[in-house]
Amino acid sequence: MRLLNSFFGTSFLMYLNLVVAFLCFNAIRGGFAEKNSAFFIFGDSSVDPGNNNYIETIPENRADYKPYGQNGFFKEPTGRFSDGRIIVDYLAEYANLPIIPPYLQPSADYSHGVNFASGGAGVLSTTNQGLVIDFKTQLEYFDKVRLSLTEKFGSAEAEEIISNAVYFISMGSNDYMGGYLGNPKMQELHNPEEYVRMVIGNLTQGIQELCEKGAKKLAFLSLCPLGCLPALRALNPQGHDAGCFEQATALAFAHNNALRTVLPNLELLLKGTFKYSNSNFYDWLLDRINDPTTYGFKEGVSACCGAGPHRGILTCGGTKKDPNYELCENPNDYVWFDSFHPTERIHEQFAKALWNGPSTVVGPYNLEDLFLDKNKQTIADIVDDIPETQQIF
Ligand SMILES: *[C@@H]1O[C@H](CO)[C@@H](O)[C@H](O)[C@H]1NC(C)=O
Repeated sequence: MRLLNSFFGTSFLMYLNLVVAFLCFNAIRGGFAEKNSAFFIFGDSSVDPGNNNYIETIPENRADYKPYGQNGFFKEPTGRFSDGRIIVDYLAEYANLPIIPPYLQPSADYSHGVNFASGGAGVLSTTNQGLVIDFKTQLEYFDKVRLSLTEKFGSAEAEEIISNAVYFISMGSNDYMGGYLGNPKMQELHNPEEYVRMVIGNLTQGIQELCEKGAKKLAFLSLCPLGCLPALRALNPQGHDAGCFEQATALAFAHNNALRTVLPNLELLLKGTFKYSNSNFYDWLLDRINDPTTYGFKEGVSACCGAGPHRGILTCGGTKKDPNYELCENPNDYVWFDSFHPTERIHEQFAKALWNGPSTVVGPYNLEDLFLDKNKQTIADIVDDIPETQQIF
């Protein structure tokens, strides 16, 4: 009976949505040619395409030297923290867009979007302060791009580009690593719960700011089990062979849970103008770390590039003036390229999962839905029909 009820409830809502979608489709389409959505990216080293090449920072926050980018997709190291491409390069490709350029690259063409991400950056301005482009500054840069689009295309067309664009946000890891666990003063000031609330509070503020400026379609890369990064295994207070650094993983877990609660609330608050895609990078990556061979990898614990236990000391490329780093033969066998960052192969596999993977990994919309503007039911529409335990996003 329950099944029947929810079946009818669901299909009726689906029917309503189809009618509404059809009406909107006819009303809006009229004069516009089919256009690709632009792609705007905010974040940290997980999605930095080379912005840090243009700021004053420490070598550890850069990847514009070998062996980064060694697999030859790009002619030389670009600043991406990978042996090749990163997740947003694949997403751009699947969306039929060119590679999205770093904002700070001189003469970058913003007409398909632009990438503001900066290695080491956090949601909080206090995270790696002075060495990165923090979230607030990334949002200010977005404002400048918005202005320049208005100057170039006129305000109607610029608004259309902004509201049709997909916004990708990948940050938070540095707030918990350098910003908190590596910062005893911050730990004195705030207990973990308070700190997570602060990060999520500032992230939520940023999301709302973006939406006020016309953004409608947002995607989030959730945090991975941070304590299992080779760098954090090496720092585990219980010993570098004691496994993942639990405290770090717990912070990522709490952050993901909080974000998972915030997003449907924002959806309700901004009813009709906010569509989002959340992801479960945490479980997805943990599966590969714990059981690499099942997924075609050989090594899920140690990095390909680095020194010390698990190659967990970030010397890749000789950053700590230590030229004696080790480098694996085939990064495709590895989950981790350096002590903090996954290999291109992981980036590609997860990009595929985000694009149109199963609802255990991405939801309520996937990236294909956002880019192609597919209308379908959202969690907010059907929240009464889903048993609590099945709600993943
Ligand atoms: C944002 O972070 C700052 C600390 O950097 C904190 O004082 C403030 O309360 C946070 N804002 C929200 C809305 O959580």
